[in-house]
Amino acid sequence: MKKILVTGGLGFIGSHICVSLIEQNYSICIIDSLINSEEDNLLSIKKICNLSNNFPKDRITFFKGDIKDKRFLMNIFEKAVDEQKPIEAVIHLAGLKSVNESIEEPLTYWETNVVGTINLLEAMQNYNCKNIVFSSSATIYKPILNELVTENSDLGPISPYGTTKLTIEKILEDLSKSQQNDLKIINLRYFNPVGAHFSGLLGENPKGRPNNLFPILLKVASGEYEKLSIFGADWPTRDGTCIRDYIHVMDLAEAHISALNFILNSSSIFINLNIGTGNGKSVLEVVETFKKVNKCQFEYSYVSRRNGDIPYLVADNRLALSTLHWRPQRNLNDMCIDAWRWKIRSKSKFT
Ligand code: WQD
Repeated sequence: MKKILVTGGLGFIGSHICVSLIEQNYSICIIDSLINSEEDNLLSIKKICNLSNNFPKDRITFFKGDIKDKRFLMNIFEKAVDEQKPIEAVIHLAGLKSVNESIEEPLTYWETNVVGTINLLEAMQNYNCKNIVFSSSATIYKPILNELVTENSDLGPISPYGTTKLTIEKILEDLSKSQQNDLKIINLRYFNPVGAHFSGLLGENPKGRPNNLFPILLKVASGEYEKLSIFGADWPTRDGTCIRDYIHVMDLAEAHISALNFILNSSSIFINLNIGTGNGKSVLEVVETFKKVNKCQFEYSYVSRRNGDIPYLVADNRLALSTLHWRPQRNLNDMCIDAWRWKIRSKSKFT
C-alpha cells in the first residue's frame, strides 16, 4: 500500500482529497498546522471512510506542524523510513490562500508558501521522494476577458498569493530541469473549489471571517450574517457581476487521485494542468441557483469592488481531461446542495 504525504491535509480541499485517497487504497500521512483547519476533520475523514477502531493504525496518521519548520518535515520522512513505509509521493496543499489577505500581508504569504515549500522539497530530496502533485492556482494567469485560459495563456498574477504560487511552479520547473532530479511533478491550477462531501461531514469552514463567496453565502443563508455584499455590479460581464469557474471539491479531489496515479505510472515529467469545469458562473447566478435549489431566501446588496478581483476567470480544461482521463461530474446545483447540507449538519452539531 503506497504511502502519500498530504500537506495541509485537514483543510477544506485537503480533507476531501484524503477521503478519496483512502477510498483508493492509499495509506496517508497528514501534516497540518491547523492555522485554517480543525482537527475534527480527521474524525470526519475516518467516519466517511468507516475507519473503525480496528482499522490498521498506519492507514491514516496525522502530525500537527508547519511547513516552515524544516526539522518537523525531515522527521516526518525519517519516521516513515524507520517504519519501512517510505513516503512515495507528496500532495502539497499547505499554504495561505486568500487573494485579498495576501495583498495586506505579502511577507507572511512569501514566507509560508515559498519558504515552506522549499523546506518540503529539500526534505523530499533528502529522502529520495520524487513525486509531487502541487496545489497551484488559476490566479497566476494574466486576467483576460471572456476567454477561457489554457495552460499556455499569459501569466501575470495580480496578488502576492498568485505570485507565490507562480514562484513555486518556477522552483519546481528548475528542479525538474536539473540533471540529478528525475522528479515527477504535476501542478494542478485550481479554479474555484466549492461544495462539500455529500455526507455533510466535511465542508469549507475557514477560521475567522471567511473571504470566499461560498462560506460567506452559507453564513448569510443560515442567518449568521445579515446579508451578502456583492463586490461590484458594474463589471464587463453578462450581468455586471464577476464570473468564475466553480468546481465541486469532490471533482477536484478526484482529479488529484488521477494526477497521482498518472505520475506514479510515468517516467520523469513536469506538467501544468487547469482543474476547472470550463463553465463560468456569475456571482448573481450562484446566488440565484443557491436560493432556488435550497429553497432559501436571504438579502444581498451591491457594494464597491474588492481589491484584487478580476471580472472573468474560466478554465480551458481540455488538457486535464485528456491527460488524466478525468472529467468533472458535478454541476453548480450539486455544489450548492452539498454545501448547504454540510452547513445545516454542522450548525445542528453546535446548537
Ligand atoms: C469569488 C467571487 C468576488 C465574497 C478564490 C480563492 C483563491 C483562489 C482563486 C485557488 C468574486 C465575489 C466574494 C463576497 C462577493 N483559489 N464575492 N462577495 O476571489 O475568485 O479567489 O479562487 O487558488 O484562493 O480565494 O474567490 O470566492 O473570494 O470570490 O461578491 O462576500 O465572489 O468578488 O468575484 P476568488 P472568492
